[in-house]
Amino acid sequence: MKRIAVLTSGGDAPGMNAAIRSVVRVGFSRKIEVIGVFEGYRGLTQKSFKNLLPRDVSGLLEEGGTFLLSSRTEEFKEDKIQELAIKNMKEEGIEGLIVIGGNGSQSGSLALFKKGFPVVGVASTIDNDLWGTDYTIGFDTAVNTAIEAIDKIRDTATSHSRTFIVEVMGRDRGFIALEAGLASGADIVLIPERKFDIDKIIENIKAGLKKKKKHHMIITAEGAIHAQDLQSEIKGRLPDLDVKYSVLGYIQRGGAPTRFDRIIATMFGAEAVELLIKGTPGFVVGIKDNHIVHIPIEDAVKKFKEINYKLYDIIEEVSV
Ligand code: F6P
Repeated sequence: MKRIAVLTSGGDAPGMNAAIRSVVRVGFSRKIEVIGVFEGYRGLTQKSFKNLLPRDVSGLLEEGGTFLLSSRTEEFKEDKIQELAIKNMKEEGIEGLIVIGGNGSQSGSLALFKKGFPVVGVASTIDNDLWGTDYTIGFDTAVNTAIEAIDKIRDTATSHSRTFIVEVMGRDRGFIALEAGLASGADIVLIPERKFDIDKIIENIKAGLKKKKKHHMIITAEGAIHAQDLQSEIKGRLPDLDVKYSVLGYIQRGGAPTRFDRIIATMFGAEAVELLIKGTPGFVVGIKDNHIVHIPIEDAVKKFKEINYKLYDIIEEVSV
């Protein structure tokens, strides 16, 4: 294999740039040409290609976002678009592709692989919802960003004896909410994977007020209930309670990647190049029990990643 391409797809994640940097530099050291593809899968159909050399990725390790840009390309689900992408890569002499992205992006990888094109995925999404890997690139940074914001909100919640609801990202999963909630000492964490009872939430708040607890912190995953809707539910039952909310939103997608994200991004990128060199595509690179793993793409996108309910159960016990 002498020439490979790399692209970033779907929601951007801090650490994507570090993974690109690793692919380019490891490729170069293995005497492989690396082509950058701009704007995710759209770049394949539009031939937005650029030869990348080691100097082209200087200063990327610590940069959030993705310098190759990204896109959500719904049309890539179409057979003819996938065929066009393969045709364009072959015309460019590209023999293998590395896709840095989450579930949706790896579904695109699977489609190309099933059509016989050598593809390797790199697990990257702030949602951390890809089966087979303990962590995806970007998740650690997003959770730390959320914790920092929640800690700041707690300052004003205590100053004004308020109940604060903070909504975090995660699409339809609760991985961000769970870790950010536990690490920030939230009183209540709402995740899509666990049905919640509004009356129980009200009882929890009332019990706190009885114990002269001045403020309450509730973290909700966007896929569980939106903060504004929960505020209405609570105010409907406790009209005298001062309830505010903040939606963290896209701040969780940016920022300099943490040490952990930089390390796994670099390791994942290098391993992806290795798999293409060895002629063993069809996997997503991830990490399990601190070891780099190769997850069959089909498993990564189709299997359901379970939540660690031990984290969920301890939250109530440690909140007073
Ligand atoms: O998948 C990452 C993510 O940030 C989700 O947590 C969020 O729900 C979604 O992307 C937002 O999508 P978009 O960037 O298309 O608005």
